[in-house]
Amino acid sequence: MVRVTARAHPNIALVKYWGKRDPVLNLPAVPSLSVTLDGFQTTTTVTWGVGEDRVWLDGREATPPEARRVSVFLDRVAPERPPCLVESASNFPSSAGLASSSSAFAALALAATRAAGRPMDPFALSVLARQGSGSACRSILGGFVEWRRGERMDGSDSHAVQVAPPGAWDLRVVVAVVSRGAKAVSSSEGMARTVATSPCHAAFVADAPAEVERARAAVLARDLPALCAAMERSTLGMVASMLTTRPSLRYWKPGTLAVVEQVERLRSEGIPVGWTTDAGPNVKVLCEGGHAAEVEAVLAPLALETHVLSPGPGASWVVS
Ligand code: DP6
Repeated sequence: MVRVTARAHPNIALVKYWGKRDPVLNLPAVPSLSVTLDGFQTTTTVTWGVGEDRVWLDGREATPPEARRVSVFLDRVAPERPPCLVESASNFPSSAGLASSSSAFAALALAATRAAGRPMDPFALSVLARQGSGSACRSILGGFVEWRRGERMDGSDSHAVQVAPPGAWDLRVVVAVVSRGAKAVSSSEGMARTVATSPCHAAFVADAPAEVERARAAVLARDLPALCAAMERSTLGMVASMLTTRPSLRYWKPGTLAVVEQVERLRSEGIPVGWTTDAGPNVKVLCEGGHAAEVEAVLAPLALETHVLSPGPGASWVVS
């Protein structure tokens, strides 16, 4: 029996992943670019070789679909594996709309490969984590991260690469939680419906490589207005394809738009700032460290809760 613990942080996409070219391997239709966050984290312990597969999430036993998703993932690590115990806990509210699956499958990939005696380099680990949840491939690495779309059918070239380390730029992500309700349609389901029915998705896919190029250049030049422009264009392209999905996918609430308007007002007053949303109503706002307190103060009256997060590290072992 081997017991290994790993930790990973959620990431937020600045240039978005929405749509798969292979839903089994989680191969994306587009490249994307993200920042891994500090402060929020998932810690996962894998015990390799127990009586039966058991999965615990935040102190409760996983539902059968959740447990099955973990078991299928462990089968990818080692098809001939023994039953395993997986205990996972996150220190952040799932209501924050920060893909908890990104940190969860990154931590699980790292803990499980080591418990299985099959350690992997970061690219192989990223390929593996991607198969649990697409965005998890980006949480293997820290700081500013690009997920290369890749071309191969087997997905071996669809993994994350680091663009800049977390300390490279003193940025903050201010999360404005405007609704705590669970999303009605999961990302996987929403993406499948969008790919099948949205007439706008092809335009989002066509724009994505250039948007990632511009965002990468903006990160390397520390050009926040250019990064915010790429982030908002990508987000609007994703939201347009969500809205034009049949039936329409509307993840925004009125409070979402109220936050977006305040962010645009701050920008018109000269503060470099930008917004993004994901498959939910909550808004993530990008700004410089020196402006984070002011941005949070402006958004707090519009939000149920706010969080200020810095760029953070990639997945790591926890020595017990
Ligand atoms: C809107 O990675 O959660 O947050 O691959 O189906 O697990 P699956 O989806 P997931 O999707 C994240 C979508 C997004 C944009 C992004 O993170 O790039």
